[in-house]
Amino acid sequence: MQIINTIAELRSVLKNQSNVAFVPTMGNLHAGHVQLVEVAKQHANCVVVSIFVNPLQFGPTEDLASYPRTLDADCKKLKAAGASIVFTPTVEEMYADFDGKNLNQSMTITPPPIANELCGAARPGHFAGVATVVMKLFNMVQPSVAVFGQKDFQQLFIIKQMVKQFNLPIHIIGVDTVREPSGLAMSSRNGYLTNEQRATASQLNGALRDTVQSVKNGNQDYSQLEQQAKSTLNKQGWAADYISIRSSLTLLPACNTDTELVVLGAAKLGNTRLIDNLTFNI
Ligand code: PAF
Repeated sequence: MQIINTIAELRSVLKNQSNVAFVPTMGNLHAGHVQLVEVAKQHANCVVVSIFVNPLQFGPTEDLASYPRTLDADCKKLKAAGASIVFTPTVEEMYADFDGKNLNQSMTITPPPIANELCGAARPGHFAGVATVVMKLFNMVQPSVAVFGQKDFQQLFIIKQMVKQFNLPIHIIGVDTVREPSGLAMSSRNGYLTNEQRATASQLNGALRDTVQSVKNGNQDYSQLEQQAKSTLNKQGWAADYISIRSSLTLLPACNTDTELVVLGAAKLGNTRLIDNLTFNI
């Protein structure tokens, strides 16, 4: 496995590769990321994993500075998982006009309006930052396949839209969320939780599961179910941001004729904001 820090070296190493599978990450890898590599390996012999904590997708009060950077441990996991190349550029390398303080990425991808809802409502500019860095990484790696986790359902939806609308020759694959035995979705941000919080962190998944069950039992009063799930979480000590039942095809609020659905949720436990979602059909 090669560890590469510059775009020039990456391009030179990939020059003769016609079939590359790509897994973009921000590092601090867990079993969910390893699963993405496993899926990538099924599509290409050459699997590139990027590790880059992208400043453009963090808001001014978010956890950019404290986001866990664990490169050595990450590389060990990726080697064991069978990745071919780890691409770990610096901020200077990724952002050509970075002046040590400002990224000066004055051209960015404007994501569709759905990027201002759900997580985008609480994180203005987040998905523009994600789409822009993913477009940059796609241009550097030029993969034929790229693999993302379904845990970030809205992110995956926006990346798929970007690939479609910009006619990128990349097949996007979404991989099921890997969970702790408790149901808690694996996330790098779980590392922020205290032992006590970790013991109750699966309540977010529980609230989503209860919502799915109610819909499957025939309750189609979606706004009441969303309110109920939020209030359950708040009573359990969370600060619920949103619980939303949407069409999994359009990500628009579900109406009663939609049959392919997703319930998405975001809530804070202490200072840690966790997200999760469940797709289901009725
Ligand atoms: O999901 C992530 O880890 C990040 O948003 C991504 C796709 C690597 C872009 O920085």
